[in-house]
Amino acid sequence: MIGNKKDLLGIKDLAAEDIELILKNAATMKYVLQQNSKKTPHLQGKSVVTLFYENSTRTRLSFELAAKYMSASAANISVGTSSVKKGESLLDTARTVDAMGADIIIIRHSMAGAPHFVAKNVRASIINAGDGMNEHPTQSLLDLFTIQEKKGKIEGLKVAIIGDIAHSRVARSNIYALQKMGARVAVGGPSTLLPPDIERLGCEVYCSTPEALMDADVIINLRMQFERQSEGFVPSNREYSRFFGLDEKRLIYAKPDVLVMHPGPVNRGIEITSEVADSDFSAIDEQVTNGVAVRMALLYMLARKGGSNEASN
Ligand code: CP
Repeated sequence: MIGNKKDLLGIKDLAAEDIELILKNAATMKYVLQQNSKKTPHLQGKSVVTLFYENSTRTRLSFELAAKYMSASAANISVGTSSVKKGESLLDTARTVDAMGADIIIIRHSMAGAPHFVAKNVRASIINAGDGMNEHPTQSLLDLFTIQEKKGKIEGLKVAIIGDIAHSRVARSNIYALQKMGARVAVGGPSTLLPPDIERLGCEVYCSTPEALMDADVIINLRMQFERQSEGFVPSNREYSRFFGLDEKRLIYAKPDVLVMHPGPVNRGIEITSEVADSDFSAIDEQVTNGVAVRMALLYMLARKGGSNEASN
């Protein structure tokens, strides 16, 4: 359980104490991952299924590795070769997995609210691995873990989230999570890629990258989500890169020890240059590493139905 919930559907529903416990358990799991043998018995006898209706490399693989490292049975439904192709609905597919005894089902879907709908109708715990443009809670939690690890704290930091805010579930989850943990959040990007109601989430909003980056401790640079852009939101990739991309010249607006993050996959040369993505400022590889530890912590917590929720190694 996380708090008193059987599912992890979004950061919006979590209390700061829930987030703190997830980060604490993730630190324990990271310690486990650094040992010679990564195998733990934490999820022995449990089964974990990934059900992804959208493409993924990091999220799906890290959940599968996390489950296997903790001795769970892990399986994946490949939507392209499943009965979804014969017209089976999301709910019937999830109910089928539930009926086979899955303890945790991890769902990615293009429709906002899809994991929430499934969660109400199955016994298994559901983890939202990204629902449309709504939330990507596990990405946000691994981002928080990385910030805490690199900066020693989250409270009081200025975090600039820049790029395609409008189509980003990562932005939404991070705006909720960072503010719950006491950070100041600024978002920046072209006005066409800033949702009209974004101020209502309590963040500072800028239509220029330098203003958003000013004195930032952390930059979360977002991918241009071309697959969700039904019309031309920017004149061209070249102009987007020139006016809004993150390059070495723009880093000078941030603090000298700024941490640069990106959820991946990266469009090199569009939202970020390779010089910055591969620089000493960048924590992109650490984010990927930490994704496994954070997802181990989440599987552990959701698989437990009672007793202490704090992991020991
Ligand atoms: N950050 C992220 O969700 O990456 P994938 O799409 O590769 O899972």
